[in-house]
Amino acid sequence: MAISTLPGGDWSLGDLRVSRFGYGAMQLAGPWVMGPPADHAGALAVLRAAVELGITHVDTSDAYGPHVTNRLIREALHPYPDSLHVVTKVGARRDARGGWPAARDPESLRRQVHENLDHLGLDVLDVVNLRLGDAQGPVAEPVAAAFATLVELQQQGLIRHLGVSNATPEQVAEARAVAPIVCVQNRYNLAHREDDDLIDALAADGVAYVPFFPLGGFSPLQSDALSAVADRLGSTPMSVALAWLLRRSPNVLLIPGTSSVAHLRENVTGAGLELSADDVAELDKIGR
Ligand SMILES: NC(=O)c1ccc[n+]([C@@H]2O[C@H](COP(=O)([O-])OP(=O)(O)OC[C@H]3O[C@@H](n4cnc5c(N)ncnc54)[C@H](OP(=O)(O)O)[C@@H]3O)[C@@H](O)[C@H]2O)c1
Repeated sequence: MAISTLPGGDWSLGDLRVSRFGYGAMQLAGPWVMGPPADHAGALAVLRAAVELGITHVDTSDAYGPHVTNRLIREALHPYPDSLHVVTKVGARRDARGGWPAARDPESLRRQVHENLDHLGLDVLDVVNLRLGDAQGPVAEPVAAAFATLVELQQQGLIRHLGVSNATPEQVAEARAVAPIVCVQNRYNLAHREDDDLIDALAADGVAYVPFFPLGGFSPLQSDALSAVADRLGSTPMSVALAWLLRRSPNVLLIPGTSSVAHLRENVTGAGLELSADDVAELDKIGR
């Protein structure tokens, strides 16, 4: 069993042990997550550096590009080390204008699972998240039928573990009534803390919470309080934001995105920053 030396140590997604410090591959596609990267060799270098640094959790989706990041992951890392676990998402497609329309009917979900297997070069997907809602966030709507389609694919041996993404707490509960999940991937960071109660409830049940946009996503986190803490610690706002997330709860897994090896290294080091109780109290005021 791999024991990560990265900040935060390890977590179990079902029977899969992953480093709590992971990597989100979305930023490797072109502008607004459409098309190929401007720097193909640079994108491969980021993925290889992630694995060399000891990251064993890479988050992706065939909607990125579309099909761009999965193919980059395969080109950079296949055959995959046994320790590496790629987590993907299904439930949305891309339209010609870069939109993210839902694609959660049974036939679309089956096709997306097979496309992920094909593009990643795998026989089984480690974790598949059912991505709900839309680009603005979660939408209250039934999820059991779509989730049941993924359970069927899991029973066929194509998926090891399931999760949900962009989900309300009610949808998380609805999915869990159909089958066990190992993770929830929702927007959450220092400034957006709608899921505080959900994180604690999932922690009590041993389910991972994986914040997307941990650094603010397309609008980088900006706050005087965050900058003040970073200045006081001789660090950067990004590092403080990641260290705060790791400290928030043991079931929080990080998947910060970057297209830069330098930022990747900076983030790994930064996430290990020690925050005092006073620092945390100051940071907690940002999103409350
Ligand atoms: N489930 C969903 O619906 C959903 C939605 C969005 C994202 N995701 C997943 O979540 C992952 C994380 O989200 P994200 O990548 O969109 O947002 P993010 O991690 O919050 O932020 C990424 C942005 O921060 C910049 N950055 C990273 N490290 C930096 C540093 N040290 N200094 C300065 N800038 C830095 C990156 O630019 P550089 O490239 O220049 O470093 C990039 O623009 C994605 O990769 C994806 O896998 C899931």
